[in-house]
Amino acid sequence: MDPLVQKAAEVRKNAYAPYSKFLVGAALETEEGKIFLGVNVENASYGATTCAERSAVFAAVSNGYRKFKRIAIVTNTSEPSVPCGLCLQVLHEFSPKLELILATVSGKVEKTTLTRLLPKAFTL
Ligand code: THU
Repeated sequence: MDPLVQKAAEVRKNAYAPYSKFLVGAALETEEGKIFLGVNVENASYGATTCAERSAVFAAVSNGYRKFKRIAIVTNTSEPSVPCGLCLQVLHEFSPKLELILATVSGKVEKTTLTRLLPKAFTL
């Protein structure tokens, strides 16, 4: 298994999702080869919830890294899960050419690109 997927699967166990019970783990690899992890963190207000992908991006940016090569995302679904539109837009802000590895807990893997998932991103 790709080590990036392994890391996303491990960190997924830290997801805080008492409301949806939908645990998501993300592992973001920078162009320098550093890896930042993220999980979804839910809130009783629902609206204050942050997705795993954005948690990973915010951790990387907070530590001074802004260029990303790949992200692995692991969910416990029958098919690999595509990130929500908000996360695609946030990923695009830093790395329009990002590669995505979408994987399930059971081992299904789908590789795609941000260009394919968000071909016409909003830009200023
Ligand atoms: N979630 C993610 O972490 N990433 C996505 O791309 C989609 C949704 C989380 C948010 C919420 O905690 C739960 O999954 C259900 O929507």
